Amino acid sequence: MTGKIPKSFIEDVLNRTDIVSLIDAYVPLRKKGANHMACCPFHQEKTPSFSVSSQKQIYYCFGCGLGGDAIRFLMEYEHLNFMEALEILAKQVGLALPQENKTYESSTHFYDVLNKTVQFYQQQLKNTKEAIHYLKSRGITGVLAKEYLLGFSPSAWDNLTSALGKDEQITQALLQTGLLIKKESGHVYDRFRSRIMFPIRDVKGRVIAFGGRVLIKEEPKYLNSPETPLFHKGRELYGLYEARHRSREIPYFIVVEGYMDVLALAQHGISYAVGTLGTATTAEHIVKLLKYTKKLVFCFDGDRAGRDAAWRALQVALPFLSDGVQLAFMFLPQEEDPDSFIRTQGKEAFLAEVKKAVSFADFIFRHLSESRDVSTLDGKASLSHVITPLIDKIPEGALKQLMYERLGRLLSLSTSQLRALSKKSHVEFSADLQKTKTATANSKRAMTHLTPLRLSMALLLQYPLLRDSVPASLHVIAWTQAESELFREILALLSAQPDASAAQLLRHWEDKPEYMLISELLMKEHFIDESELEKEFVQVLWRLEQQHHESCIEKMLMKARAQGLTSEERLALQRLIEGVKIIL
Ligand code: UTP
Ligand code: MN
Repeated sequence: MTGKIPKSFIEDVLNRTDIVSLIDAYVPLRKKGANHMACCPFHQEKTPSFSVSSQKQIYYCFGCGLGGDAIRFLMEYEHLNFMEALEILAKQVGLALPQENKTYESSTHFYDVLNKTVQFYQQQLKNTKEAIHYLKSRGITGVLAKEYLLGFSPSAWDNLTSALGKDEQITQALLQTGLLIKKESGHVYDRFRSRIMFPIRDVKGRVIAFGGRVLIKEEPKYLNSPETPLFHKGRELYGLYEARHRSREIPYFIVVEGYMDVLALAQHGISYAVGTLGTATTAEHIVKLLKYTKKLVFCFDGDRAGRDAAWRALQVALPFLSDGVQLAFMFLPQEEDPDSFIRTQGKEAFLAEVKKAVSFADFIFRHLSESRDVSTLDGKASLSHVITPLIDKIPEGALKQLMYERLGRLLSLSTSQLRALSKKSHVEFSADLQKTKTATANSKRAMTHLTPLRLSMALLLQYPLLRDSVPASLHVIAWTQAESELFREILALLSAQPDASAAQLLRHWEDKPEYMLISELLMKEHFIDESELEKEFVQVLWRLEQQHHESCIEKMLMKARAQGLTSEERLALQRLIEGVKIIL
């Protein structure tokens, strides 16, 4: 994603930058233990959970989950794109950007080329009857199409080079903004062909990427620009610029999934919908939106996937729920999305659904009560066990207190009893996780809520040498636990770059959804004595192996119950069961 800027240059800049003094200039830091701490600049809190490590050269907020290296901090704090942030840092450490890609110039050059592309696609739309017809059939008028800069990419493979010229600089810009794709042979061709084009603008109104939809039933239905120096999918929201442009004051945002949802709502006079471009809601999305209004309404499909997406959004949003922030969740009937709903039922019906949206508090209690019987003692205990860590993520304030009161009423316990209970369960959990003396003594902020797999990844990332301690007899390759793929990725990365620093390792996930998790794992304090590290690490790995083993057995037993086993499978099962005994 860093395009033509050499990796080594970025590393140079990062190596010469001290993240502690950089951040300290924006957010005064106080040294505490190995880290420097402050109240997080990205979410409201009273006790500091924003920490910066001088040794690792990264920051991470244990409250809201935002984290990264020095470049990422500048991007978040100053709302810059990657190249702008890199340029500032380079200047500060007295490095000149490599001549052939002077960032500022190429950055404006990129915007320039993207604008020309928009104009070309717009022109093509005017000349393509079937594309106009398609948009009309979906209820989009010419006026709206113009406002959202909609366009059309013709079917040829070389539209852009023909239209914009074969000049080397232009080709480079087209490649780096993802509009052209280069084959191994060196041949270049257009990424977007025969598609309705939806330009994506940043908050300043600059086009930074595109989405493109096919006219006919074909896969993939939508194609998006890849991650580029200007475009990070997890940070952008479709229609945000237009929403701000359209309304003087935004009453609330309706967060939807698709391009067409945003457009259909706008067409019906609801100008404050934004689209997550088909990705899960991120902390960056929430921070961005809360700058303009304190109320967010998440609008999801009524199906299982919609409910899951809502639940994920809720979890991401918890640390940002300072007093005054309101979250609500609306669920459309099965088979409907905002676009289809508003076109068949109209604006008033849609707004009535918005009014019926479930409040954040109702959603959290309802969702967690669904799978348990809260009239029984067991159900109550289990509810409190899962809900208190979530409530604890809410910043101190009236909302948090209300949540505890509500939980208390439901469980017939007082708020202080509940808070005490919540602390206790954290301690028990982490003590169970690592039985060392030091861990128990410090367990309050120890690796709570870490699965064994995450613990092992955290240790690996923080002590890359542990890679050599992974027992060869483990079947890591076959593990199927959630995130075991990530574990394997870390192992591979460490063998490819055995000397990489923490910040360098983190760069590997720069454009990936795991970026936040990796920052967290890199920063997590573990309180394991250095002398016990290897032993602890290997123990956790064996636990994981055993988990894997047990799930294999479970699968086999399920098959046995459902359809019976062949004699070969029965033997395998027997061996598996014996294997468990050996591990135990
Ligand atoms: P949906 O499949 O729900 O499509 O994807 P939609 O928005 O209702 O599209 P229409 O109404 O058929 O035109 C929701 C969003 O997920 C992303 C897009 O951002 C889309 O708007 N998506 C979907 C992709 O990126 N690629 C795909 O192939 C499909
Ligand atoms: Mn749709």
